[in-house]
Amino acid sequence: MKITVINGTEKHGVTYRLKEMFLSEFQDKADITEYYLPKDCPNFCMGCTSCMFKGENTCKDADKISVIEKSLLEADLLVMTSPAYVFHATGAMKAFLDHFAYRWMPHRPAPEMFTKRAVVLTQCLGAGAKSAAKDIKHSLSWWGIPKIGVFTGALMSDIVWDKLSKRKQAELTRKIEKLSRKFARMDYTKPARTKFIIKIKFSFCCFMQKSLHKADPKYLDGKYWAQQGWLDGVRPWK
Ligand SMILES: Cc1cc2nc3c(=O)[nH]c(=O)nc-3n(C[C@H](O)[C@H](O)[C@H](O)COP(=O)(O)O)c2cc1C
Repeated sequence: MKITVINGTEKHGVTYRLKEMFLSEFQDKADITEYYLPKDCPNFCMGCTSCMFKGENTCKDADKISVIEKSLLEADLLVMTSPAYVFHATGAMKAFLDHFAYRWMPHRPAPEMFTKRAVVLTQCLGAGAKSAAKDIKHSLSWWGIPKIGVFTGALMSDIVWDKLSKRKQAELTRKIEKLSRKFARMDYTKPARTKFIIKIKFSFCCFMQKSLHKADPKYLDGKYWAQQGWLDGVRPWK
């Protein structure tokens, strides 16, 4: 199986340590590719909307984005990590997610995403890990991913792992290992089951694309939906 990891920080701190713990269950059974932000996606989306209206290849950052996207599409499991920065995911993670706005369901979602699994790992000192995880999960679910596991943790006493109490270390370790075992047990030869809520969102977007495509057959999103067969009843899930 293949795993693609998007690290929301380049720092080898607590987020990194927890991510390594999560991956330990997969080391001998997965081909793991990791990207680090901002290094691997260093630029902000400038809001030119070229990806939306002219195609993703026209993005000024297409060389970087296309490489990461290929890896995301090929992976059986996506792992997204971030410490909480002012109650949210890191700015680098937000900049990364902005580059994939065109992949949101109302635009041109990738069919591969509708049967994929993902995990979001966030942690913080006191509070904010949950809202940071929500930032990432929100994008993933609108990309169409039906199965998303979430780990959130709060260190409380210190920001350095080795300075945490043994009890806190054990609590976080237990929690991340539980999630890791759960995802390691899954059968990745079978697609994840698409949730009802995703089917509802998809139907709504389909209705919208049908009328947009009818009004302007050259409109890129509508053309994409038509090419996938989605306007004629084909669905990206099994
Ligand atoms: C810019 C910045 C903003 C932060 N904001 C929060 C916050 O809102 N809530 C919180 O509990 N910790 C906050 N922290 C602390 C980090 O989330 C915490 O130290 C975390 O463990 C860092 O993870 P790392 O070791 O992987 O970098 C912030 C740290 C930085 C650098």
